[in-house]
Parts: sequence; C-alpha cells; structure tokens
Amino acid sequence: MQNVSAQLCPRADEVDDPIRVDFSQGLKDGLRSVPKSIPSRFFYDARGSDLFEQITQLAEYYPTRTETEILSRHGAELVGDVQDTGALIEFGSGSSTKTEILLRFIPPTSTYIPIDVSATALNEAKSRLVKSFPHLHIEPRVADFSEPLKLPGSIRCKSKLGFFPGSTIGNFRPNAATELLRAFSSTLGPKSQLIIGVDLKKDPKTLNRAYNDALGITAKFNLNLLRRANEALGANFDLTAFEHRAAYDPETGGVDMYLVSQKMQSVQFDGFATHLGENEAIHTEHSHKYDIDDFVSVANAGGWHTHRIWKDENEMFAVFKFQN
Ligand code: SAH
Ligand code: AVI
Repeated sequence: MQNVSAQLCPRADEVDDPIRVDFSQGLKDGLRSVPKSIPSRFFYDARGSDLFEQITQLAEYYPTRTETEILSRHGAELVGDVQDTGALIEFGSGSSTKTEILLRFIPPTSTYIPIDVSATALNEAKSRLVKSFPHLHIEPRVADFSEPLKLPGSIRCKSKLGFFPGSTIGNFRPNAATELLRAFSSTLGPKSQLIIGVDLKKDPKTLNRAYNDALGITAKFNLNLLRRANEALGANFDLTAFEHRAAYDPETGGVDMYLVSQKMQSVQFDGFATHLGENEAIHTEHSHKYDIDDFVSVANAGGWHTHRIWKDENEMFAVFKFQN
C-alpha cells in the first residue's frame, strides 16, 4: 500500500517553514524536468551533513585530506597579507573544520560568518569554535549562498575575506559557477579577497573510486535525498528500489551522480504526482573537475583576479586566492 501521509496536505506549521517550502518546490521542479534531476543542495539535512562528514574520512575520497594538507602547509601565506582582515565569510561552511586552519592566522577579535543550508552543521560548528576561538564574533547564517545575501552592518567598513573550500564550486557547472562567483563579489563588496578550493581533472579511475566507495557511504548520502523527501514531505519513494550511480563523464567534465529506479513507481507528495520508469535515472549531483586555466577563466568572468595558486605535489587539488 502507498504511504498514506503522501496523500495528505502539509500541516499549517509546515506550510510556513521556508526550508520545507524550498525543498518541496525544488523537488517538484526537478522531477518535472526532463531528464529528472534534484538540486544537490538538498542533500544536506542533519543526516546528509553527517554522511558527508563520513565521506570526508574515506580512503577513496581524496579531496578533503588533500585540500586540508594544502591549507595546513600554506595557511600563513594564504592569510598572510590580510592580517587586518575584519571578517571571514565562508560559503557552505559545513563542519568548519578547515576554517580552523585559517582562523589561527586571523586577528582573534575578527568576525566569522559561516553560511550554510544545514542549521545542524552550523550549530555544531559554532559550539566547537567558541571553545578554541573565544574572542571571535561568530554569526552563522542559515541561507542558500546562491541567493543575494546582505552582510551585517557591523562589518560594512571591514576588509572581507571570503572562503569557499571543499570544491563545492564544482557542484555548479562552469557558467553557473561564474554567476555564483559574481554574486559572491557583490555580497563581499569591492576590494575583497576570496580563497577557493577546486578539485582538478585527473585519471577517471581515481575519480570514479572517490564517488563509489567500497563501504557504500556515498550511496547512502545519495539515497538520503529521497529518505529526506519521504520524512520531511511525506513522499513515498520506495527506498529499497534505487541504485546509486556515479561516473566521470568526459563530456560534462565532471562526475555525475544519479539515483536509478529499479522498478516502475508512482510518487506523490504535497499534491504533486509523478512516475518513474524501470531504470529511469534521477540526476542528483554534478561535481565538476577543472584544469587550472579553465578555473581562472571562470573566476575572471565572475569578476575575480588571481592573486596566487597553491597545489598539492600530485596536482590533485588546487587552492586559489583571488581579489576583486
Ligand atoms: N566546506 C566544507 C563542507 C563542504 S560540503 C568542506 O570543505 O568540507 C558542502 C557544504 O555546502 C555543505 O555543508 C552544504 O550544506 C553546503 N551547501 C551546499 N549547497 C549550498 C547552498 N546552495 N547554500 C548554502 N550552503 C550550501
Ligand atoms: C560538497 N561536494 C563538493 C562534494 C563533491 O565531491 O562533489 C559532495 C559529494 N558528493 C559525493 N561525494 C561527495
């Protein structure tokens, strides 16, 4: 029998919850599109953020440890010429683990504004950071960083350093990445600096392994999207009938991730209905991989000029510092 709650309307308190409304609308739009797709920002409810943290510990998932190694090795240089920084603004901060590396080189009474769609990740990060950086003004924002954002008036006259690690920029295709970087420039204001971590092109075997780990954590992270839809929206996806698929596609220049329905199924939630055919795939994430020059072009088009670039010795990952 179908999940009965799928037939029901959302409760009054749910109708007004902006996170639920955004998820419901985004999911409907994505499932109406051909082929079906779901925006990757919806991965990150509390469980999704936790699964992402588990991914960062996997042997196959090299980006986190490689970027951490670059930041640890060059932290002083990265922050070095912005000793008078008044504010560090981080886009998609998650657990803020990498941020701690930079905070050591930033004046202790600076303002730190972590921005993330995951309220749980922001709360956990703040509780931890206040202990290590007691004089830092931490002002978390639960927000979609791709939407226009007004920073607090208290930092209006301060110099701003943006931080966008994790290659989260890769979850936007190059044209969208340029638009996002342009939006960051207008959020941060003129004479700002931006540090971005970017995953580089490499042999497909390494890439495919990173998104198909032996423990199946990435598959769980992927499937959590539909679990979230069932739990938060009362949808009725049959979670036992989906297969995780992720592969580097030289055509798109990135790893594309899908959830593939293993049977025909009808899905309903919030007055919306759709059908999935046997073997029909829902696209859930694009993770773009760059050459250095290509990323510089993307950033230039978004209004940012290269200050410096750091890479690990195997050239797997790069950290760029830009100014606008
Ligand atoms: N910066 C961390 C986490 C990267 S995972 C690291 O480098 O390890 C991507 C993070 O970005 C998640 O915490 C997710 O919740 C957040 N995120 C993804 N899309 C977002 C969006 N559109 N707006 C705000 N946060 C977003
Ligand atoms: C956050 N983002 C850059 C990760 C990535 O690699 O695209 C999310 C992820 N998806 C699967 N594994 C990790």
